[in-house]
Amino acid sequence: MYYKILKDKITSRKATVAIIGLGYVGLPLLIQFYRKGFNCIGIDIDKKKIDDIYKKKFEKNYFESIIKKKRKHSVKKLKQIKFSSNYTLISKADIIIMCLPTPIYKNKKPNLSLITNSLNKMSNFLKKGQLLSLESTVAPGTTNKVLGKFLQDKKKFKISEDFFLIYSPERENPVIKNIGQKFNFYNTPKICSGYSLKCTNLGAYMYSKILKTVVKTNSTKNAEMSKMIENVYRSVNIAFVNELKMLCHKMKIDIHEVLKLAGTKPFGFTKFKPGPGIGGHCIPIDPYYLLHEAKNYNFYSKFIDIALKTNEEVTKWCLKKTQKIFLKENIGKKGSKVLMLGITYKANIDDVRESPALKFFEYFKKRKINFDYCDPYILNIKHKNIHKKSIKLNYKLFKSYNAILLLTGHNIFNKNKIINNSNLIIDTRGFFKKYKKKKIYFI
Ligand SMILES: NC(=O)c1ccc[n+]([C@@H]2O[C@H](COP(=O)([O-])OP(=O)(O)OC[C@H]3O[C@@H](n4cnc5c(N)ncnc54)[C@H](O)[C@@H]3O)[C@@H](O)[C@H]2O)c1
Repeated sequence: MYYKILKDKITSRKATVAIIGLGYVGLPLLIQFYRKGFNCIGIDIDKKKIDDIYKKKFEKNYFESIIKKKRKHSVKKLKQIKFSSNYTLISKADIIIMCLPTPIYKNKKPNLSLITNSLNKMSNFLKKGQLLSLESTVAPGTTNKVLGKFLQDKKKFKISEDFFLIYSPERENPVIKNIGQKFNFYNTPKICSGYSLKCTNLGAYMYSKILKTVVKTNSTKNAEMSKMIENVYRSVNIAFVNELKMLCHKMKIDIHEVLKLAGTKPFGFTKFKPGPGIGGHCIPIDPYYLLHEAKNYNFYSKFIDIALKTNEEVTKWCLKKTQKIFLKENIGKKGSKVLMLGITYKANIDDVRESPALKFFEYFKKRKINFDYCDPYILNIKHKNIHKKSIKLNYKLFKSYNAILLLTGHNIFNKNKIINNSNLIIDTRGFFKKYKKKKIYFI
């Protein structure tokens, strides 16, 4: 009965979708449901964020264009979207999707407290007939062990009869709008798994209303593990190429040229680019979830462990190399000034979480090296006791710095203008590889 009622509500777009956690994952998801005609509720504990979204930026950034494009989503529809920090709204939802952070503790163990706290907060407002989907990245087994157990033991639901539980990992590529990516939310296949076949089918049906391809699997463990593999794969390969960068440096071989050559093989080789280290909420964190879970099975995953360590090591290596160049070029002392260019953890995004640039900030601050940064996507930053504002992307200003330290190369950067307006460049990514004339150090 509940299955059919919810399925019909999804078909007729009468279902109300509540997204919990309006961050990089949750907010675009909510917008997509809204675009496709669903009533939406956005819940976030960050009251300031709710305020910003509700009153100012959200309407300007998202609704204006949606309304212009889709007249049928009239202003009337606009009123059917609610943002709040109040969990009582969960009682009005048919579908609840959790997009909460899954960080690690200082000792690197998984921290699921945000998910368990959220479950406790929504507990009184959950009711029969609802569907709960988890999109956060978690170790295999978590959906059933944590959410399933909670729904059965605490709420006494009969999952797949009077309540539905889904795990569907997020795959959004967090690239800045208008950069021209091939894959977006709509055309990136989405994996959907459920507590049972019924749950999987209902979840897949729901997601099929907002995106092109849903890939079903019957076990939530499979879906959880697939997300782990995607991120560990990146961690391991980035670590490998970063290790090769350090080796090539010793061997006086140009890693970028070598990778270009290897990349001409049309099969069996995928190119990963070396850099100053890894960042973001996924690659430096998620592998710890699997590493830790493996221990519960008495298994030590060498690859995961060594990859995490190597990716930390390469940041330290880049710092040391930078310091050596400073010594050689007499930079970093009183009177000299360095500009860090691009501080996000990868190009064309507006996210500095775990970015290696933050390690550079700390290192420079500790050694009293005078520095500014320039990143059009991060206008100001507060990290530990460091508060900085980005300088404008005005290339003429670059002349006043003794060195430009390229940490991330956004597409909007004009390489020629940077080259022509800089005294010295330290490039951690091979961004200026084609430019040989100026004083450029590749590390
Ligand atoms: N960012 C990505 O590109 C990406 C990609 C794939 C998967 N993921 C995974 O998705 C999950 C969410 O990541 P994100 O990047 O969107 O995180 P985020 O930090 O950008 O957003 C999370 C939001 O949740 C809110 N929040 C925290 N606790 C809450 C609570 N108890 N109730 C309500 N709101 C709460 C925070 O205020 C924040 O706004 C993580 O597990 C992450 O690993 C992220």
